[in-house]
Parts: sequence; C-alpha cells; structure tokens
Amino acid sequence: QPEQLAREKQLAADAALRWVRDGMVLGLGSGSTAACFIVALGKAVREQGLRVQGTATSRASEKLALEAGIPLLEPRRGLRFDLTVDGADELDAHLRLVKGGGGALLREKVLATASDYLLIVADSSKAVAQLGRFPLPLEVVPFALPWVLDAVAALGGAPVLRMSKEAPAEPVKSDQENLLVDCHFEVIAEPEQLVAQLQNIPGIVEQGLFLGLARAAVVAKGESVQVLRP
Ligand code: A5P
Repeated sequence: QPEQLAREKQLAADAALRWVRDGMVLGLGSGSTAACFIVALGKAVREQGLRVQGTATSRASEKLALEAGIPLLEPRRGLRFDLTVDGADELDAHLRLVKGGGGALLREKVLATASDYLLIVADSSKAVAQLGRFPLPLEVVPFALPWVLDAVAALGGAPVLRMSKEAPAEPVKSDQENLLVDCHFEVIAEPEQLVAQLQNIPGIVEQGLFLGLARAAVVAKGESVQVLRP
C-alpha cells in the first residue's frame, strides 16, 4: 500500500509537468507529492533547458528547489504565478481541499491566491466524498491558543495542538513561528460556513480549507492518471 501510494504520487507529479510552459513563474508546493514534482521539474530544467522560476511554499521545498537547480524568486509586490503545483490532504468532487498536513498552509494559501492556476497533485487516497476525516489544520498565534482551542471545541472540532515527533514535549512551530492545531470535525458538511466561523476567531492566522482555488487536480490511481475539474 505505501509503495503503491508512492508510485501514484510520482505518476501524478510527472503528469503535472504537462501544465508547465517555458518561461513560466511557478508556485512550488510542499509535501511529498509536490516534492516529486519539484524533483521532476528540476530534471527538465537541467536536462531539457526548460526556463522557469519559482517561489516555494515552505523552507523544505525551497531547499529542494535550490538543490534541483530551479531559480527562486523572493516575495515582492506584483509577483504573480502562472501556475502553482501543490499537494492536498483531502479533495472532494468540487475540488474543495483540506491542506496543511505538512504545516505549510499559510504560505500555500498565499501562493494559491497569487496564482492564475492552482493544480493539485495527489495519490488516490486523497480523493474523498466528504471532507473532514483528515484533521483540519489551523495556524495559530501562540498568545491566542487557549481561546482558539475553546472556540474550536465549541464548534465541534475537537482541537489538538500538534506536537513535534522528534521532541514530544515540544509543539510544532510553523515557518512563521506559529502553532498548529488539528481539528477533528470528522465530517465537514458545510465547508463555506465553517470557513466563515473560523475567520471570526481572533488568533487563527489561517485555516486549511481551500475553497474555489484549485482549477484542476491530477489524481493517480494504480497506473492511470485522472484529471479532475471543479
Ligand atoms: C502541506 O502543508 C500540505 O498541504 C500538503 O500539500 C499535504 O500534506 C499533502 O502532502 P503529501 O503530498 O505528502 O501527501
């Protein structure tokens, strides 16, 4: 199963290269599937002379892109992306997404919003009938944490502060030095309504529902690749 999913991630990432044109400015996503894309893109840059530039959604992806030989652009006014390729933790038939399993949801949403086209790359396990089984990530300002936990619990989100796997007594910090809270809603029946409720809670810098942003998703299942559109 894990090997099958790894194979699917690779297939989806390779297929995403078909969206890339010479001269494009790209948003480079985070997570293991986006990493496959960055590596494949780097190969095309080095071996086929493809000229692209990009900005990454996490420090990890930044490092990977540099190693792959992809020139990086710093954030600046007026910078837009022709295409952003990123993974997702869950996607439904309307291409509504849950993202942030890797903790990079804020930068991911910034780049997705500054992009003309957001393409999602995913293995078959990510496509779901209803969002919510995967815990919804929030990025939270440390001072606000207790009240955010109270407010999310009142919404039925069973919030859990994300702890470090390497140092179990330490909370995970985002690239912006904020905390991450995973909310176990189990079923998110009305994503639009939940977004509005979460946006009303001070101290939540960003939440992991991406609605109306993805233009297409490349989902690999077995040896075949499907392109989904909202
Ligand atoms: C990172 O913050 C996430 O949004 C990733 O895009 C998501 O976790 C998908 O990761 P994988 O491609 O590793 O499954």
